[in-house]
Amino acid sequence: MTATTAASAAYIVAGLLFILSLAGLSRHETAKAGNGFGMAGMAIALAATIGLASRSISAIGITLLVAAMAVGAGIGLWRARKVEMTGMPELIAILHSFVGLAAVLVGWNGYLSVEANAGVQTEVAGNLLGIHSAEVVIGVFIGAVTFTGSIVAFLKLSGRIKSNPLILPAHNALNLGALVAFAVLTVFFVIEPNLVLLTAVTVLALALGWHLVASIGGGDMPVVVSMLNSYSGWAAAASGFLLGNDLLIITGALVGSSGAYLSYIMCKAMNRSFLSVIAGGFGNEGSTGTDDRDYGEHTEISAADTAELLLDASSVVITPGYGMAVAQAQGAVAELTRHLRDRGIDVRFGIHPVAGRLPGHMNVLLAEAKVPYDVVLEMDEINDDFAATSVVLVIGANDTVNPAATEDPTSPIAGMPVLKVWEAENVVVFKRSMNTGYAGVQNPLFFRDNSRMLFGDARERVEDILRAL
Ligand code: TAP
Repeated sequence: MTATTAASAAYIVAGLLFILSLAGLSRHETAKAGNGFGMAGMAIALAATIGLASRSISAIGITLLVAAMAVGAGIGLWRARKVEMTGMPELIAILHSFVGLAAVLVGWNGYLSVEANAGVQTEVAGNLLGIHSAEVVIGVFIGAVTFTGSIVAFLKLSGRIKSNPLILPAHNALNLGALVAFAVLTVFFVIEPNLVLLTAVTVLALALGWHLVASIGGGDMPVVVSMLNSYSGWAAAASGFLLGNDLLIITGALVGSSGAYLSYIMCKAMNRSFLSVIAGGFGNEGSTGTDDRDYGEHTEISAADTAELLLDASSVVITPGYGMAVAQAQGAVAELTRHLRDRGIDVRFGIHPVAGRLPGHMNVLLAEAKVPYDVVLEMDEINDDFAATSVVLVIGANDTVNPAATEDPTSPIAGMPVLKVWEAENVVVFKRSMNTGYAGVQNPLFFRDNSRMLFGDARERVEDILRAL
């Protein structure tokens, strides 16, 4: 078997492991195994690439390559160990910017070594040169959009720049104009590749990436991060075409399509338009306004009375939200779950697809606190069971349990699918005040006859309940 055949075989195995990894990551029970498959696939891919490269690169080159990888891996490991769960989106954003920058460099390298190199250029058949030039310009474009878009996302998420959306006059026309200009420049570049046109495409794409993400409100950045994840995949795929590396094409396409699908699921769960996310500026649709309507009086409950309510219950559903993450209440919530289950009470969790601030935010916290997977259900799996539930504990959730989404067509969150907690016999809402949630809209659930408010930090209140039990 030649080295090239061995590398191709290793690439196929790595590609299959990446597919298994994505399949594993789609469910929390299998997410750990999915991570393992991904790591194994990447190790095989790297070993095969270095093995193949060692045939054409000098020993010094290979030493430099391995040293660069070791430094990169060290920095990656250090950052990943240090990052807080809430800082994850910004870490992912900055990592995407590296993929974008790499794609730009690969594109420029392709141009300098073929189109700008008269000796090599004449060796490439005419129609193949056109294809190569198209690959260069498309790779540079996607890479540059991903690069600046991810940098802006990182700066906004880490609070280094204001997260307010930047609204330039006719911003949609600007985006569309940039795309048209890119198409025109691409045609000219394929006909007559030259430095000026490639520079123009690079500058245009850098500006477009910056503008697309700058137009989006900071709170909506998680959807943007998953969209940039998709762009980084397509940028990698474009580099794969240029480098003639099949695995990079496959991996890039997997990342590109899964990132796009994740963004689509998030948009659907938040009732946003998917197309307007890709076009930039979709965050402006989200409401941050206030609601002055009079919903009546809310009723409070103490931790001791909540404990009584729970002891009388036959079935309990816990719907956690962003406040559980803020309060770091997952450990106490897991303890409460064990306690109630030991007493023979049926306890399950209802997880909204966009509860918290990251896809899977609640699942990660509950898994960390060792809540058994089989009692953690998705919104669609539990929504029909609320009517037969004795007590629902809404722990730091607000928008995701807001009945206005289904009952009030004028609500800014109208149409967003929500957990129908209000159908239960009793609802206890854990929060610190009557403040609104992420969408900035009041929640009529808090004023319903079967709802009680348990004010205070969610973790402290759950611990109070545990003591009372
Ligand atoms: P939110 O609507 O954001 O409400 C969280 C609630 O937690 C707040 O009302 C807050 O009330 C309470 N809270 C905060 N700290 C607390 C603490 N220490 N103890 C007790 N309560 C506390 O949460 P949600 O229901 O999870 O909804 C998520 C929202 O984020 C949705 O609107 C969604 O569209 C949006 N979003 C989600 C994602 C993803 S991917 N998950 C991405 C972007 C946006 P007090 O201040 O009164 O305590």
